[in-house]
Amino acid sequence: MEKLVINGGKPLFGDIEVSGMKNAALPVILASILIDDKCIIENVPNVSDVALAFEIIQSMGGSVRKINKTTVEIDTRNVTQGIAPYELVRKMRGSYYIVGAELGRFGRGKVGLPGGCDLGVRPIDQHIKGFEALGAEVSIEGGYIEAIANDGLKGSNIYFDAVTVGGTINVMIAAARAKGVTVIENAAREPHIVDLANFLNTCGAKISGAGTDTIKITGVEKLRGCTYAIIPDMIEAGTFMIAAAVTGGKLNIRNVIPKHLESISAKMEEMGIAVEEYDDYVTVYRKKEKLSRINLKTLPYPGFPTDMGPQMCVLMCQAHGVSLLNEGIFSNRFRYVDELRRMGACIKVDDRTAIIEGGQPLSAANLRAVDLRAGAAVVLAGLIATGRTEIEDIHHIERGYDNLVEKLRGVGANIKKVVLPDPATYEKAL
Ligand code: EPU
Repeated sequence: MEKLVINGGKPLFGDIEVSGMKNAALPVILASILIDDKCIIENVPNVSDVALAFEIIQSMGGSVRKINKTTVEIDTRNVTQGIAPYELVRKMRGSYYIVGAELGRFGRGKVGLPGGCDLGVRPIDQHIKGFEALGAEVSIEGGYIEAIANDGLKGSNIYFDAVTVGGTINVMIAAARAKGVTVIENAAREPHIVDLANFLNTCGAKISGAGTDTIKITGVEKLRGCTYAIIPDMIEAGTFMIAAAVTGGKLNIRNVIPKHLESISAKMEEMGIAVEEYDDYVTVYRKKEKLSRINLKTLPYPGFPTDMGPQMCVLMCQAHGVSLLNEGIFSNRFRYVDELRRMGACIKVDDRTAIIEGGQPLSAANLRAVDLRAGAAVVLAGLIATGRTEIEDIHHIERGYDNLVEKLRGVGANIKKVVLPDPATYEKAL
């Protein structure tokens, strides 16, 4: 068991580097199953979800070779369909991309139903609708989803009833090798959708319109390996932007695409925080001591990202007056609020809206990372709280933040990871 220990109250100053985006790396890595060749992927984040994706590829007969700290070679020529172990896939939401990739390559795909953060009900009906439109028969049995297209996949028109990142990605992967043209309407527009399309196109796919709500995919028979670099993680960047603001410091956040951060920058500017944009970095600091209150709703891209809601809530705790944070994507994203309340934050939750009365000082407490972004929020709160904050269940944080402790220490945070004795050994010793 491991936990984080933070002695709060230190403003953060200096340069901090952003890694490759987890939510782009996962589909690119799992889509490599479809490529049936060797790919070199660069700017890969060192996070446990990505490590799990590599294990899954290996368990299916593929090979993964580390070339350097952030570059890997993935060879999927020997991948066999339908054997990804449930024990691995159940730990990660993105594992459902295996179905799209297997369907596209073998005409059938099967995987254990996905895990991931508990953010409320997370149906996959739109993925199923997409696979069925491409001609697959889909069944869910014994905790597995299976899609079979005996006559191969055929291009089709698909209109999503909900804007879904995972659904758009999964159908785009499957359709890349279907016969004919697929058009996805009401598609998600997130930067990682564009990144996946760019990766597949570099491998020979014919995808246009990624980044808009209509994506056209002209299926090709074969794809070939390529070298591709993952885009920077806008959520990690946003988390560091808030770290600069909440601690009253000044950070240069490097290796970012400022355009991807626009919705975050705009809300922070509205509160009185400077976000200076340069080619591949942003500099963030407070322009005024008393931050202004704001209202915020999380939305699909280019709206404000749901994955930045918890971190933003910590910033709102420091604003002058009452801020409203409305969650527009998931039904249960406020489990971190109880943790912040334990530190003295004054937050009420009414259905999908958190009502945050700013200005209450936060004091250190023993906390849990209840999910990935909730974990980031309690780390941020720990950085500003007076006293020693301890955070458990940090495996959630390590699913999506590359080397967070070292990166924060590099800009002056007093944070460390402590390995606790195994409870059984500990009990015996008592
Ligand atoms: N939805 C449906 N039917 C579907 C699919 C989704 O109704 O078939 C609904 C969901 O219930 C939700 C909404 O549509 O209310 C959006 O879900 P989406 O499919 O866009 O989310 P996801 O693919 O499950 C990804 C990220 C999440 C991120 C969301 C939204 C990955 C592996 N996960 O999830 O990332 O919050 O998009 O941007 O890419 C995180 O990294 O911390 C994280 C939770």
